[in-house]
Amino acid sequence: MSNYYPAEIVGTAVLGDSGVRQIVFRSPSIASTCSPGQFVNIACGGEHSSHILRRPISIAGADRESGCVDIRFDIKGAGTAWMAELKTGELLDVIGPLGKGYPVEPGKKCLVVGGGTGIYSVLFLAKVLGAGCKALLGFRNSSLINSISDFESYGCGLSIITDDGSSGRKGFVTELVAEELDRGGIDTVYACGPMGMLKAVNDIVGGRAEYYVSLEERMGCGVGACMACVCHTLVGYKRVCADGPVFNAVEVCFK
Ligand code: FES
Repeated sequence: MSNYYPAEIVGTAVLGDSGVRQIVFRSPSIASTCSPGQFVNIACGGEHSSHILRRPISIAGADRESGCVDIRFDIKGAGTAWMAELKTGELLDVIGPLGKGYPVEPGKKCLVVGGGTGIYSVLFLAKVLGAGCKALLGFRNSSLINSISDFESYGCGLSIITDDGSSGRKGFVTELVAEELDRGGIDTVYACGPMGMLKAVNDIVGGRAEYYVSLEERMGCGVGACMACVCHTLVGYKRVCADGPVFNAVEVCFK
């Protein structure tokens, strides 16, 4: 179920040197019903804008007790630049929670794999899975590393790799996935990140574990009505916003 809520912003932050922005807003209804992998659609531009554009943003965390929802995003265009200027006490026009999230089965041993902005989607998943998962995160370089203390606070294992070796090991997150799978005992792999990463992980998993991916597509309505986000899958056309964004990898046409 999704709803529209005017939601009060209760905190904003810039996460380290990464430039990544965090907004925490109060919405007890969203916080009490959302699950990892779902997203919210936020109206950007404010009430005086000539046209309102909504931006889909993954939910990075939610707390039922406080009713607060955590979102994190890079500034990629006018919409997210506008969001970055918002202040505590202002109201957000939020629709959510939207989409289908990650299927979670208690007792499974899991890997959560994040690259780029995909780490915010799997951050919420790591919070729910806790010690039942290990997070494998890839960043282009050390300046982009963020949210690590949050992953650590959830009690999951954690490995980080950078493309250029400027922090920790040099290489790609797919190498970490291969090593963990070779050790054995992994039931499920969840991943969110660029399509190239999702495809490479799919090749590595190769049927050794269940594999679920969160796809990123341009979106319009966010609720399944406009067909702006349709993608071709092995079982027909799917709306990423409503049928996903999380899909079982066996359905996905990896480009
Ligand atoms: Fe409109 Fe998905 S964004 S159908």
